[in-house]
Amino acid sequence: MTLRLDSTLSLISPNISDNCQQFAPLKLGIMASGNGSNFDVVAQAIQDGRLNAQIQVLIYNNPSAKAAVRAANRGVETVLLNHRNYQSREEFDRKIVQTLRHYDVEWVILAGWMRLLTSVFIDAFPERIINIHPSLLPSFKGIHAVEQALASGVKITGCTVHIACLEMDSGPILMQAAVPVLPDDTAETLHARIQIQEHRILPLAIALAASSSKVTLSVT
Ligand code: GRF
Repeated sequence: MTLRLDSTLSLISPNISDNCQQFAPLKLGIMASGNGSNFDVVAQAIQDGRLNAQIQVLIYNNPSAKAAVRAANRGVETVLLNHRNYQSREEFDRKIVQTLRHYDVEWVILAGWMRLLTSVFIDAFPERIINIHPSLLPSFKGIHAVEQALASGVKITGCTVHIACLEMDSGPILMQAAVPVLPDDTAETLHARIQIQEHRILPLAIALAASSSKVTLSVT
């Protein structure tokens, strides 16, 4: 008997539909350091009417981040905050918080934000910071999560969207998607398949987080 493994196959949990709507559009601040494909899928989900939200601002810390180009192409305001210009992580995070407040942001989405967060940031947006990570947390935290998964020999990895807390890549899990590791996978091929699943779950997880929040939003 031959087992056919569909490399696009995935298991997403919780398996919710994408029609989580709430009364007022969520005011999102997205933060990215690099390519920005996750920024793009959130923007596209909004444009398609699958996510009831608006992107108030994209903050990026790397002057060459492609995410900034993607945002500009979509008419989203961008702010470059280069961590190298700040004396400490706390000073940098104070500037981030000030910027997010200036743009009236309610929910912060870390979409490939490659900096550690301090309590200055976490405490300013309690339970309102969402992170995406390319592994099935709590496995393979930190950078090179895909390489870590390959080196460990796991047969299934994936991605996780969670509420961020002070400890890196930790906090309540919103959604996960599983991705099989194929025998001839490289970090690049595996990451590419993980990203397909990231792009599916990130907009859903944002809607899920907002609809579960009892602070100011209600589910229709
Ligand atoms: C994603 O794999 C995400 O999980 C990780 O950084 C990567 C960002 O990708 N935190 P992109 O810049 O959105 O394409």
